[in-house]
Order: sequence, then structure tokens, then C-alpha cells
Amino acid sequence: MTIHFIGAGPGAPDLLTLRGRDLIASCPVCLYAGSLVPEEILSHCPEGAHIINTAPMDLDAIIAEMQRAHGAGHDVARLHSGDLSVWSAMGEQMRRLRNLGIPVSVTPGVPSFAAAAAALGAELTLPGLVQSVVLTRTPGRASSMPEGETLANFAATGATLAIHLSIQNLAHVTDSLTPAYGADCPVAIVFRASWPDERIIRGTLGDIAGRMEAGITRTALILVGPALGGEGFAESCLYAKDYDRRYRPQSAGSPWANWSERDE
Ligand SMILES: C[S@@+](CC[C@H](N)C(=O)[O-])C[C@H]1O[C@@H](n2cnc3c(N)ncnc32)[C@H](O)[C@@H]1O
Repeated sequence: MTIHFIGAGPGAPDLLTLRGRDLIASCPVCLYAGSLVPEEILSHCPEGAHIINTAPMDLDAIIAEMQRAHGAGHDVARLHSGDLSVWSAMGEQMRRLRNLGIPVSVTPGVPSFAAAAAALGAELTLPGLVQSVVLTRTPGRASSMPEGETLANFAATGATLAIHLSIQNLAHVTDSLTPAYGADCPVAIVFRASWPDERIIRGTLGDIAGRMEAGITRTALILVGPALGGEGFAESCLYAKDYDRRYRPQSAGSPWANWSERDE
């Protein structure tokens, strides 16, 4: 039987993929990661499914549940918030499952940084201004950062930073980034993107601390960088009238003039 790791998305129940929904519906056992996975998503479980909140469990207990289900011939839906490729603890579960010879599959989900950008109506990469996004975090009680992965180092690139798991470290974030980005660099804090109680706070590195609101203590993303200002960027070549490209050759002499998709 298979343990299906499924990205449950950022919060809104309809931001689950169709593949994820169908897999959940096909599994008689569902393990989900606590409060960040909304109840409505669990309603896709089949009637009588064994549904377990893993928030209070340790890794040994989680793997034991998976082994039990596997032994009983049951597929398992394993839900984590957002996407599984970042801060999901999927890696350590997979390593154990591989050692046990238990098959796994992975279904991606909408990551919280994408939901936050959608809430802001922002493109995080703008031509001529910013062409990279760094998904990062600051050290927490249980997690140190590898040497070199400092905010100051990332700031030196000028990229848009999507800083996770760090709302409690806001002062450290602004202090570390101001030397490179300047005090007037735009910042947006998105609390519980896509949930009914979503909140957005906009400001700059210089004033965001003073704009913070009560209750925003977790499940928030800090986005920093010039792209959040939404100004000072060029239009892309992609849609420029005179840009010669495969799907829109500009003349009979264009290298793309006789191109067809079959040529590829
Ligand atoms: C353990 S990480 C999980 C990240 C998740 N795997 C993803 O793809 O976004 C939890 C952190 O992600 C961010 N996060 C998760 N869901 C969020 C949401 N709906 N709105 C804003 N930030 C969110 C917060 O920074 C939170 O501290």
C-alpha cells in the first residue's frame, strides 16, 4: 500500500488540487498536520475513515500509524499545509518509510508564499527590477540556520524575500535587511493568507514594526523587496510588439517564420 503525501494548500479548502482531493477520497486512513489543515479538507475523506491529527505525535508514533495502516492493506493520505517541498517534515518521514520499504507518492499543493502574493495582487518577479524569490526563515527555538543562510546574505542579492516562520522575529528581520534594502523598501505581512480571517499589513522596513496589529503572532509571511512596491519596472519582452519569437514571428525572415511545434 502507499503513503500519499499531499500538499493541502494555504488554508482555503478550494485551494486543494483535484488530484489531492481524489487521493484523500480514496484513502481509508488520513493523517493531517494540525491546525493549518482546514476541517473542510477532511470532509473529502471517505465515510468511516480513520482520521488522525498528528500535531501532538512524535515521528516514531506517526511512522507507527503508517506502518499499521500499511500492514492492514490501507492506503494513507498524509496532509501537510501548503506545499510539501518546504518546511513540511516530509523528508524525515520519507527516509523512514523508504527504509521500511513502504511506497510513497507526492502530490504538490499551493504554497503559502503564492497565496500571500495572490492576496497582495503582486508579481514577485518584475522585469528589470527583481528576477529571483528567496524562500527562507529565521532561526527558531527548534531550528538553527546553516551558516551562510543569513538574511544579510540574501539581502545582498536584492531578491524578493518570502520569510516564513519569523513573525516573532520581526525586529531581527528589519534590522538585518535595512542596510541592504534601505528603510523605505516595501514590506508586506500577510497573516493567514486565504483563510476567512486573512489580514494584510503593508509598510516599509522603517515603519512596519509600528504598523503591526495585535493577534498576528503566527501563520504569517513577511515579504520584503522592491517588487512589492509594484513600480519602477520594465515591460517584459514576451508581449512587446516588435519582439521576434517562436509564437509571434515578426517577419518572413525571422528564424521562427517556418517553425511549428512539431519541430521541437
Ligand atoms: C511549517 S511552515 C509550512 C510552509 C508550507 N509547507 C508552505 O508551503 O507554505 C509554516 C509557515 O508557513 C507560513 N504560512 C503557512 N500558511 C500560511 C498562510 N495561510 N498565510 C501566511 N503564511 C502562512 C507561515 O510563515 C508559517 O509560519
